[in-house]
Amino acid sequence: MTASGRFISFEGIDGSGKSTQARLLAEHLQAQGSQVLLTREPGGSPGAEEIRKLVLEGDPDRWSAETELLLFTAARRDHLERTILPALAEGTIVICDRFADSTRMYQGLSRGDLRAKVDALHDLMVGRDPDLTILIDMDPEVGLNRALSRGTGEERFESFGEDLQAQMRAGFLALADEFPNRIKVIDGTRSIEGVAADVTKVAQDVLG
Ligand code: ADP
Ligand code: TYD
Repeated sequence: MTASGRFISFEGIDGSGKSTQARLLAEHLQAQGSQVLLTREPGGSPGAEEIRKLVLEGDPDRWSAETELLLFTAARRDHLERTILPALAEGTIVICDRFADSTRMYQGLSRGDLRAKVDALHDLMVGRDPDLTILIDMDPEVGLNRALSRGTGEERFESFGEDLQAQMRAGFLALADEFPNRIKVIDGTRSIEGVAADVTKVAQDVLG
């Protein structure tokens, strides 16, 4: 068998601590001597980073829900082709801040029921899910305050507010029930170190 790395994604509402925990897990595994690639969506390849600007900046009504779904899927396809699959083929552990579950939630749920289209497009154009998805569960009010305090200008989604965050939280938990083998839920309201300890434990189960 050729070398094949493991693919781990982080999911959760804005401000739940995904980026922080993805970085800490990457640092932990690197310190143990593993080859690790830390990446994110939307983005993670030059083309997908350009699409990121189109989807995250500007008027919240800039795109219809369907167009937005196509843009996120195009970004994911490029990211997979150019960054993720080549790294996995070299045996690298790929850690990704958001992946297809974010599309299942944000495009599949938040602006009408597009989940069937999201799934069809995923099967057609992506066809791959992570080996492990760590869902950081978080109270929406706490998450939103954390996200807005960063002030990055990428506020197209964050400006949708707390109701959307609450809907997304419930949706992510339902998704964890739908994919119980792949998605593991971790309580994100504790200290950074406390959450990180759980993340390491869950990741080790998959990495062996
Ligand atoms: P996400 O990537 O999910 O949007 P971040 O990792 O960027 O979340 O975290 C959002 C903000 O909250 C950052 O300023 C980060 O330093 C802070 N933060 C992350 N985890 C915790 C935690 N467990 N407790 C307190 N603050 C946190
Ligand atoms: P991200 O930079 O991860 O934001 P945060 O760190 O605040 O969680 O993602 C930006 C936004 O993009 C986020 O609000 C969710 C949205 N998004 C989608 O709507 N669909 C997707 O497929 C992805 C990957 C992200």
